[in-house]
Amino acid sequence: MKSSILAGVFATGAVAQSGPWGQCGGNGFQGSTSCVSGYQCVYQNDWYSQCLPGTAAASTTLKTSTTAKPSATSSSAPATSSSPSSGNGKFKWFGVNQSGGEFGEGNYPGTWGKHFIFPSSSAIQTLINDGYNIFRVGFSMERLVPNQLTSSFDDGYLRNLTETVNFITNAGAYAVLDPHNYGRYYGNIITDTNAFTSFWTKVGKQFAANSRVVFDTNNEYNTMDQTLVLNLNQAAINGIRAAGATSQYIFVEGNQWSGAWSWNTTNTNMAALTDPQNKLVYEMHQYLDADSSGTNAACVSAEIGVQRVVGATSWLRANGKVGVLGEFAGGANSVCQSAVTNLLEHLKANSDVWTGALWWAGGPWWADYMFSFEPPSGTGYVNYNSLLKKYVA
Ligand SMILES: *[C@@H]1O[C@H](CO)[C@@H](O)[C@H](O)[C@H]1NC(C)=O
Ligand SMILES: *[C@@H]1O[C@H](CO)[C@@H](O)[C@H](O)[C@H]1NC(C)=O
Ligand SMILES: *[C@@H]1O[C@H](CO)[C@@H](O)[C@H](O)[C@H]1NC(C)=O
Repeated sequence: MKSSILAGVFATGAVAQSGPWGQCGGNGFQGSTSCVSGYQCVYQNDWYSQCLPGTAAASTTLKTSTTAKPSATSSSAPATSSSPSSGNGKFKWFGVNQSGGEFGEGNYPGTWGKHFIFPSSSAIQTLINDGYNIFRVGFSMERLVPNQLTSSFDDGYLRNLTETVNFITNAGAYAVLDPHNYGRYYGNIITDTNAFTSFWTKVGKQFAANSRVVFDTNNEYNTMDQTLVLNLNQAAINGIRAAGATSQYIFVEGNQWSGAWSWNTTNTNMAALTDPQNKLVYEMHQYLDADSSGTNAACVSAEIGVQRVVGATSWLRANGKVGVLGEFAGGANSVCQSAVTNLLEHLKANSDVWTGALWWAGGPWWADYMFSFEPPSGTGYVNYNSLLKKYVA
């Protein structure tokens, strides 16, 4: 799920309409509040409204979800959870996304506490006490390196980000640095792979000494040239390793929102990525609602999660790769709880290729969001913590 979005990045207040799944409103948002044809602007929370498929007449008052991504039409395939199981049945990582630093998309640089926020260390501590050992920290590249990808860091934002990262890693957990940018910078698809290498060299240098940092090349590339997605991932890997950050894992993401369900047809070229340290982890995302977007609290069936990831499980194994389910969630209902359980059991049974999973999402500003994993009262936390805790690494 994304809490920010590809399209709503009209930093200059352009009048264009926001695109599919784009941000179209929210505290501090300066882009267009109308959506392109076929989409309607739906309030998600005070900081975020999003262009969702539909017309104004069909308006649903989705008070909760932030985000989404288009995806699979609901799978009607019979359950085929027949990938051979292997591995030791233990995850290396199990944790929670942490949102906030990437909020206020389109308002750059924006103001701390008004347009964006960083995760709460006490909430993270609670989750660490629950056993979770990985947190994916969303941030925006426009705020970390304003104006150009090759610019130097913004000191205040870097300090915020570093504080969050250090809190997590000093507690013994892993912190995933997640530029929540969808392969874009100020709304434009990143095509300059050299500049992307330069960005990652800088970030790599900054965190080279911290082996519990994980570098995530970018959140949810989508609607981009497939070869470009491959090249951007490789450019990031090259930059990070050139910076001397050699001990860390790198999470790579694919095109089309890095969906697990379509990985085996969309992102097969990603098998060509190389890393001299051999520490690449393929990060995929998967939701369980009808269109895999994570915008609906209902899950298709108890089997849907397994059906949607089995192809990815096979792909990882066939290609000698390992993966992580970087985003998943389900609504507060028994079908979703079964679907989540079955999904996690499948991943666990295939832990030779699945290193772990991260719930979407924690963060201080989710309010009554249907998946909020913010202790103590977030809907997702209340309904899923005891279920998920069984899978902590
Ligand atoms: C981030 O920066 C703001 C403003 O400088 C500061 O008040 C806050 O404590 C910092 N840290 C976090 C984790 O938000
Ligand atoms: C691709 O993945 C999907 C979803 O998991 C699966 O249903 C399908 O059988 C896979 N196709 C191939 C050719 O592996
Ligand atoms: C993880 O967190 C980031 C923000 O912190 C969010 O944008 C992203 O979509 C999340 N991914 C998952 C898998 O939850």
